[in-house]
Formats: sequence, structure tokens, C-alpha cells
Amino acid sequence: MVFKTVLVIDKDVITRKFLKHMLEEKGHAVSQAESGREGLVLAWRDQPDVIVADPNFLDLDAAAFVQKIRQDPRTAFTPIIALSSNLDKEFSEDLLAEGYNHYLQKSGNAITELLKIFEETSTDFQEKTGKRENAGKVFTFLSAKGGTGTSSLCANIAMNIAIAEPEAKVVVVDMVLPIGSLGSIVGYEGSIDLTTITDLPQEEITIDFLDKSLPRIELWNFHLLAGAPNPEASNLLQVQNISHILKTLEEIFDYIIIDLGRSLSRISLPIIQKSDLLILILGTDQGTVTITKSVTEYLKTLGIDLKKLYLILNRAIGLEGITKTDAEKILDLDIKMTMPYMGGNFTTANNQSQPITHKFPNDTGAFMLRSLAKNIIEETR
Ligand SMILES: Nc1ncnc2c1ncn2[C@@H]1O[C@H](COP(=O)(O)OP(=O)(O)O)[C@@H](O)[C@H]1O
Ligand SMILES: [Mg+2]
Repeated sequence: MVFKTVLVIDKDVITRKFLKHMLEEKGHAVSQAESGREGLVLAWRDQPDVIVADPNFLDLDAAAFVQKIRQDPRTAFTPIIALSSNLDKEFSEDLLAEGYNHYLQKSGNAITELLKIFEETSTDFQEKTGKRENAGKVFTFLSAKGGTGTSSLCANIAMNIAIAEPEAKVVVVDMVLPIGSLGSIVGYEGSIDLTTITDLPQEEITIDFLDKSLPRIELWNFHLLAGAPNPEASNLLQVQNISHILKTLEEIFDYIIIDLGRSLSRISLPIIQKSDLLILILGTDQGTVTITKSVTEYLKTLGIDLKKLYLILNRAIGLEGITKTDAEKILDLDIKMTMPYMGGNFTTANNQSQPITHKFPNDTGAFMLRSLAKNIIEETR
């Protein structure tokens, strides 16, 4: 039995006291709040293992509460159990769709059921403080600007990681909104993608299911969770399932390699938090380097350890542009590797959905991709 720190939010003082008493008797540490806002302040300050909230808040609506909780890095993953006297089925379904993790009715059984959820989700709780021993590593590719080669490098480095570690299971996940390009880079035309998977009820997104349904792209040596196929689908994306999907992928795969693209979108925060390494792709024009600077500053404000940053300077547009040393000066960070300009070769390989390593094995670029992969694996050992 792992004891939890629990935040109880309920406008009714009697309920609060009752829950506090019952949960403390079982060894949990309980703090309480009367209103939604007060709850937010305590949640962010104390970062409890779990929040138990009556979603009928005095001051906030239920959806606004969960959004604020999920948007803040300190509580992006905190499980929220809705405990309500509303018996309406639609009401509970709405809450789950909005991002509450569980729904319980206020009843004589509530305490027993709460304790059961605490037990069942104990891996989630542990994940807040540290990762499970054997959980896969998460490498996230991002950039400050489009067209810097993020997706191409993501796919090609992932392929080289899979080759360098033949025993390892590798998955590449395209999280670029509103439309992903990894499917086309690796030549996948199937219908399993981020939007179809996140649309499923969370109970259906199991280890077994993902293990069976994600396609393996033979030529690339990895499995793929392709991205949003179009902006409409991406708008409907069930964001609250993303952390669950990642968690499940961590159980199946040794390396989870994510293309987050250029934007820090509404889904990126929990992903960034979860990453073991953030691989930031830089272009060589002054503008990109300057925007990259603001991205790294932003990551700092989120409390991201800059040691997790791995900078690659990619000469995607030619030999011109600023030097590595200049870029390092502007950013005040080390650039780990420079990817040479490969002329039309990179685009040719992309257009034919082939890995650089296959299409142009003797190109300096292919050599660099191999050493990048090794280096990145080393970085998180
Ligand atoms: N080092 C490079 N040399 C030559 N072309 C490159 C290089 N890196 C990327 N490219 C090309 O740049 C284009 C944009 O790449 P892409 O991976 O789609 O960028 P992003 O995902 O950042 O928008 C692609 O056509 C790719 O082939
Ligand atoms: Mg891209």
C-alpha cells in the first residue's frame, strides 16, 4: 500500500471533513479546499498525488477546472477523481471527456471505491515522482520554425537508433498539429493514426491493443503512430487521452520518439515534461536562432532541466547562414552536432519514402545520422 497525498475539493464542509477523516484513517495525507480556485492554488503549490473533487464547484465550471490543471506542468498528469451526487449518465460522460480520470457517485460505497482507484492507479502516481524502472525512453524532436528538417531528422535518427539497438523496440509518434508528415516520409498509407487512436475510450487503449495495432514500417525498422491526417481531425483530437497513450507506449517500447514539430501546441506541455531528451533542431538563419532562443527561455520557465536539451544544427538550406559558434553564443547553449547540407539527396530520399541510410549510405549525412543516433542513446544512459 502506497500512501497518497490527496487534495479534496468540495463546497460542502461536512463532505470534506468526512473524506479527510476516512482517508487519513487509511494512512493518506489529505488537504482540502472549498472552491475550485482555492483547489487550483493548493494543487499547484503542493502537487498532490491525486485530486478528489466534486465538479460542482462554487466558482468554476467543471471543464475550466480540469483545463487549468492539465495546462500547468506541475499538475499536467495529476489524476482527478470526480466525486459527485449527480446521477446523470451524460454528466459523467462529459466529465470523462473533459479530462477527469474517474467518475464516482457520492454513495455509501464511495470511500471503498476511492481506495480501490488509488490502488489500481498506483503506477500513475509513481510516475509523477519517477519513472517506472523499465519504462521506455522518450525522445522528443522539436524546432522553433517549420522547414528546419525536424520530421526528416526524427524519422532518420529513429531508424538509426533502431539499427544501433537491434533488440530494442522503437516507435515513432507524430504529434504535429494540425497535420503530420511522418506518414508520408516513411510511406505509410494506413488508417491508424493519432486521431483514430485518441478517439477511442481510454479503457480500449491498452498495451495489448496498441502493441497489435500500430504498424511496423519494415524499411525503417520502427513502429509508427502516424499523425493527424487533416486539420479537422486534429481539431477534434481528444487531448486528455494523449498522456494515457504515452504511458501505454512506454510499457511496450524501449524508445518512444516523438515529432512535436515547431509549435508548442496545446498538447505539447505534458509531452515535453515526460521527455528524457528534447532534441531541438536549429536552422542556420539568424531568425530561426532568435526564435529558438525564446523557445529555450520558455522551456526554462516551465522548469525543464536544460540538461535534457540536445541541440542539432541542421544545414537544411545550404552552406550559407550563421556558424555553430555564433548560434551557441546567441543561445548560450552548446550545440551537440551539426548535420551537413545534403543537397537534393535528403528530399529525394524523403520523396521516395526511403531512409537516407538506405538510399545514400555513403553520404556524409548518413554517417552523421548514425553517430547522432549513437550519441543520443548514450546521452540518456
Ligand atoms: N541537412 C539537409 N540537407 C538537405 N535538405 C534537408 C536537410 N534537412 C532537411 N532537408 C529538407 O528540408 C525539407 C523540410 O524538412 P522537414 O523535415 O519537413 O522539416 P520540418 O519538419 O522541420 O518542417 C525537406 O524537404 C528535407 O528533405
Ligand atoms: Mg515536420
